[in-house]
Amino acid sequence: MNVEPRPLLNVRNLRKYFPVRSDRLMGPRLLVQAVDDVNFAIAEGETLGIVGESGCGKSTTARLLMHLIAPDAGEVWLGGKRLGGPDGLTLRQLRRSMQMVFQDSYASLNPRLSVQDSIAFSPRAHGVPAPQAIDKARELLALVGLDPDQFGRRYPHELSGGQRQRINVARALALEPKLVILDEAVSALDKSIEAQVLNLLMDLKRELRLTYLFISHDLNVVQYVSDHVLVMYLGKVVELGTVDDIYHRPRHPYTQALLASRPSMDPDVKIEQSPLAGDPPNPINPPSGCRFRTRCAFAEGVCEKVEPALTGIGRGHAVACHMRIPASGHTAGR
Ligand SMILES: Nc1ncnc2c1ncn2[C@@H]1O[C@H](COP(=O)(O)OP(=O)(O)OP(=O)(O)O)[C@@H](O)[C@H]1O
Ligand code: SF4
Ligand SMILES: [Mg+2]
Repeated sequence: MNVEPRPLLNVRNLRKYFPVRSDRLMGPRLLVQAVDDVNFAIAEGETLGIVGESGCGKSTTARLLMHLIAPDAGEVWLGGKRLGGPDGLTLRQLRRSMQMVFQDSYASLNPRLSVQDSIAFSPRAHGVPAPQAIDKARELLALVGLDPDQFGRRYPHELSGGQRQRINVARALALEPKLVILDEAVSALDKSIEAQVLNLLMDLKRELRLTYLFISHDLNVVQYVSDHVLVMYLGKVVELGTVDDIYHRPRHPYTQALLASRPSMDPDVKIEQSPLAGDPPNPINPPSGCRFRTRCAFAEGVCEKVEPALTGIGRGHAVACHMRIPASGHTAGR
């Protein structure tokens, strides 16, 4: 019998609406629906990729998981414990088990701290004595492929972008987290350096039995690293499945369009016209019903009136589209 791996992270009904100022003086209070009723789980040892166009809510989801911003609604469970529950997880425990690496390698590092002091910072804040924290930092430097004697006493401005991002990975690992959130962590690097850092991340995941949430606008990179992939559109999950489901059997028109518009790895294949024209609508006033309907070639009356629920269509594969929901009223049926 095939046993499903137990989820390390479970996210239920997560929501964040940001209040923003109206253009007009005394205008109505406006809300950006950045993340709206998002549900997903990540099994221990797996990588979940999140893709979607700019502004669809990927980073907000990550920041909500870390509680860098407070959710309006929803629950985050880690290792079977709920943050804030009666016998649950404290914010300190959650932040220890879950770490994040951002895109901007420079902004994440204190320019006045040497590399080894920077890596030792969190363990010291958690009560590890200085000499042990420095030893640990030097071990981590070696683990991310940088010689501690050569790099330990350097400062961030003395390093390349790829080296700085290795330091950020070492810092994220210093408290021995279970889950690492990588938000466009390799996106700013040159292609060859990006590949090296990606390979390092994959090696570390295996060696340290880590679980990753991997956010990127680069569909090719997400395909390379992920076990499961979640596709977001205007704050909603529109499709979720194994990497094979999403890349070889996509069932949501948005996922299909996103894949069709990605730059080909093969320079001889030219895409004549992007099937995903224009920008997503404003998340302050998203379209009624299905949020993708204003750009969808298959939209019908029901799409305007009824929001399609994320519906299971196979083992671990779920889609939010009326064409995939039996008796939804869409002529394409299932
Ligand atoms: N602090 C904030 N106040 C107001 N609106 C915000 C705030 N943070 C994010 N938003 C808005 O929430 C929406 C989602 O933003 P988010 O940064 O999560 O998108 P993203 O998918 O990470 O985009 P990108 O691919 O560009 O990084 C966007 O419309 C953004 O403008
Ligand atoms: S629900 Fe309707 S508008 Fe939305 S993706 Fe499906 S067919 Fe297109
Ligand atoms: Mg982002």
